[in-house]
Amino acid sequence: MLPHAASIATKKICALAPIIPVLVVHDVAHARPLAEALVAGGLPVLEVTLRTGAALDVIAEMAKVEGGYVGAGTLLTPDDVKNAKDAGATFGVSPGATDTLLTACENADLPTLPGAASATEAMRLFERGYDMMKFFPAEAAGGAPFLKSLSSPLPQISFCPTGGVSIDNARSYLSLPNVACAGGSWVAPDALVKAGDWAGITELARVASQLSRAA
Ligand code: 3PG
Repeated sequence: MLPHAASIATKKICALAPIIPVLVVHDVAHARPLAEALVAGGLPVLEVTLRTGAALDVIAEMAKVEGGYVGAGTLLTPDDVKNAKDAGATFGVSPGATDTLLTACENADLPTLPGAASATEAMRLFERGYDMMKFFPAEAAGGAPFLKSLSSPLPQISFCPTGGVSIDNARSYLSLPNVACAGGSWVAPDALVKAGDWAGITELARVASQLSRAA
């Protein structure tokens, strides 16, 4: 692989919106209206976590929504990669990175945001061709000050911080030169999804979509 070829596609995806909704969807009936609500609010890039029995069907349904870019989150194994790709995921996200998982994503030609939470983990991924990665768990691992500290020695690497990101702290991440976008579940709260309050979700997405980025 050419240096940093692994991140070309994910960088384009991350450029589409400042926030990637992280979705835990239990009922496939919610998939279409939820995706439509988020896309209507200006958040076209959607991460469906593989943490529910419905997740693969949810990806397949959301993939039909015009204007959406649906990815699979919580990729842990090569089987997850195959299932996600078969369901129609156009990108993948993982909380971490193993060689086995990276090889599976590369062989499947699935653009992937692998997770890193230290300088060494980020450097290992960079060495393998990734210069766009997830920073997870963002708040617990040091938050925006940690990423700011990495921007001096590792300016070539961009991050999508996820985990504990909210409308209250998103700006502190997005103002950094090494943050392309951030991920978060706050734009699709369980209570609004269960209530079918799609207008409420569109409004949360609209506010998030207007966050400005330095990178
Ligand atoms: C997760 O683990 O579900 C994601 O990192 C999202 O975290 P959040 O719910 O804190 O946004």
